[in-house]
Amino acid sequence: MVTTFRKTVRDIVFTNRQLARLYYFVSFSRPVLPQWVGADYYREKSSWELQPERCPCDLEFIEYLQKMNIQDQTIFHFGTGSHHILGLENQKLEKPNEIIGITASAPEHQEYIRLSLKDRLLAKYYKVICTDIFTLTDRSLPMLDVVSLFHLGEFYMPEDAPFVHHNEESLIALFLSKLNPGGKILFYTKSIGWGNAEPIIKSFEAQGKIHKIEEYKNLLVYSPGF
Ligand SMILES: C[S@@+](CC[C@H](N)C(=O)[O-])C[C@H]1O[C@@H](n2cnc3c(N)ncnc32)[C@H](O)[C@@H]1O
Repeated sequence: MVTTFRKTVRDIVFTNRQLARLYYFVSFSRPVLPQWVGADYYREKSSWELQPERCPCDLEFIEYLQKMNIQDQTIFHFGTGSHHILGLENQKLEKPNEIIGITASAPEHQEYIRLSLKDRLLAKYYKVICTDIFTLTDRSLPMLDVVSLFHLGEFYMPEDAPFVHHNEESLIALFLSKLNPGGKILFYTKSIGWGNAEPIIKSFEAQGKIHKIEEYKNLLVYSPGF
């Protein structure tokens, strides 16, 4: 009985994803969430252009780095978009930060390659890896000064557990373990995944693992510990 129910749910999800893929195929538009189309299709087809009205987090992050005069630090950035605005703006600083960006999207990564072939200086300070953030481990990350986890709560899919090392809780714990003294971890309250992310962040806060040090527009800035 339970097995039949699970199979029915799986069949419905599968059919809906087939329909969603068909929709994106015929409309020439890009999927926004892997939950709609499945992780494989999302990774192959998604691409996010800069949309300041809809998602200002990267622009606010750039402003925050400028306001706090954060230069010559090591930054990890979750979700580059196809615009790579963070890397492009970072290059203009007197002492650029060393930024590691991550994207799950092949078209966004191809755009990074195109930009860095056009301008070799981009890759000097901005490296973009194309993989699922939940596959990262202690061994794939350096020590970091600033981490943006703006898209926490948006993309984790329990069905992908066999292919990754983390869920959202253990991902935060991983990044906290990679923070240098004085390091900061930033979240984004206008994310479409904020409803999922907020209780996780609150639970880390309640356990004394992080504390909020400041807010900048829609960004919350935390440091490890009490
Ligand atoms: C909505 S876009 C936002 C991009 C950019 N931060 C902005 O606001 O313009 C989400 C970003 O997260 C990336 N992303 C989604 N799921 C991911 C995952 N599992 N691992 C790594 N990156 C992921 C996408 O490739 C994309 O760059």
